[in-house]
Amino acid sequence: MKTVRLSIVGFGAVGQGVARAILQKKDYLAGMDIELVVLGIADRGGACVGPDGVDLKAAIKRKKEIGSVATSDFTPLDVIKDIDHDIVVDATPTNIDDGEPGLTFMLEAFRHRRHVVTSNKGPLALKYSMLYDEARKNGVQFRFEATVGGAMPILNLAHDALAGNRIMSIEGILNGTCNYILSRMTEEGLSYEQVLGEAQELGIAETDPSYDVEGIDTACKLVILANSIFGMDVTYDDVDVTGITKITPESLSLAGAEGMLIKLIGEVRDGEDAIIKVVPKLVPKNHPLAVSGTLNVALLRTDMAGPICVKGRGAGSIETASAILSDIIAIGKKEF
Ligand SMILES: NC(=O)c1ccc[n+]([C@@H]2O[C@H](COP(=O)([O-])OP(=O)(O)OC[C@H]3O[C@@H](n4cnc5c(N)ncnc54)[C@H](OP(=O)(O)O)[C@@H]3O)[C@@H](O)[C@H]2O)c1
Repeated sequence: MKTVRLSIVGFGAVGQGVARAILQKKDYLAGMDIELVVLGIADRGGACVGPDGVDLKAAIKRKKEIGSVATSDFTPLDVIKDIDHDIVVDATPTNIDDGEPGLTFMLEAFRHRRHVVTSNKGPLALKYSMLYDEARKNGVQFRFEATVGGAMPILNLAHDALAGNRIMSIEGILNGTCNYILSRMTEEGLSYEQVLGEAQELGIAETDPSYDVEGIDTACKLVILANSIFGMDVTYDDVDVTGITKITPESLSLAGAEGMLIKLIGEVRDGEDAIIKVVPKLVPKNHPLAVSGTLNVALLRTDMAGPICVKGRGAGSIETASAILSDIIAIGKKEF
């Protein structure tokens, strides 16, 4: 049995989803000859550590009851640096001002020769090449399937399943909140403000929704696709971004009369007519990109396989943990 030693830094919806997935999939993983042992978990309050593995059920319970996993003097950075382990799972909040705290956590993990699996877009949207270079310099893997499209496999699809193809372009709906708002405005003729208010009550939109509705979240995901799949060297500032705040029920109804929907589309294209932009676009109602509700979708145009479309849940605790677990397993199969 290969034992893969992990830490989980950030223990909110995603970090706890990873812990639950590890508990649920113990037998499944044993069938693959892999055992995952979590040696440390950290949140803003501190950390819990265990040389033979942290009790994940107890950590989830403690987090729920007292708001923190902390039971030791370790800081999150101590966990990353001082505990001898293989993979740091970073599930800290996305921050596109300076990428912190995830940026420092990831760089320190690489410098201590630990692989990193993350769902945190911020550091990748700002410092992709710096992170990638540091990982390469230290001979470790950097995997981030969960940063784009949650459960929807897109990076690993492009890199592994479509290996040998040239990917010419990717177009997609990469933000479930915007898609939910536009879908309900279309279906019920409601205003942007009305649907946003309801989405906030349902917990689909944040109290400060600007990151989603201004297209910033979609732009960060495009940057990750552009760098990872197209080998570009771009950051968030290179993306041309328009959000959905100016879309009216009237414009949606006019589009509908022509058999069209309006969707917030992120598009990245390689080559002479290279493009990286986020913009509301008309999409025919029967087009593969015409998915509704909180779903995400991506259409990859390839030279050999032709168009490939993938859709799925772009967020959620266990859904995002699914992408993280697949990255952990990929490292486990290759490195151990
Ligand atoms: N939720 C989703 O469906 C989803 C989907 C795809 C990607 N993501 C991304 O995944 C990441 C995590 O999302 P989430 O929904 O799990 O967020 P969350 O519920 O807000 O959890 C974030 C966690 O990070 C911890 N944290 C914050 N600053 C820290 C620091 N300096 N040191 C250690 N821990 C720190 C927080 O600690 P406290 O608990 O003590 O506050 C919390 O446990 C984000 O980058 C998000 O964009 C989320």
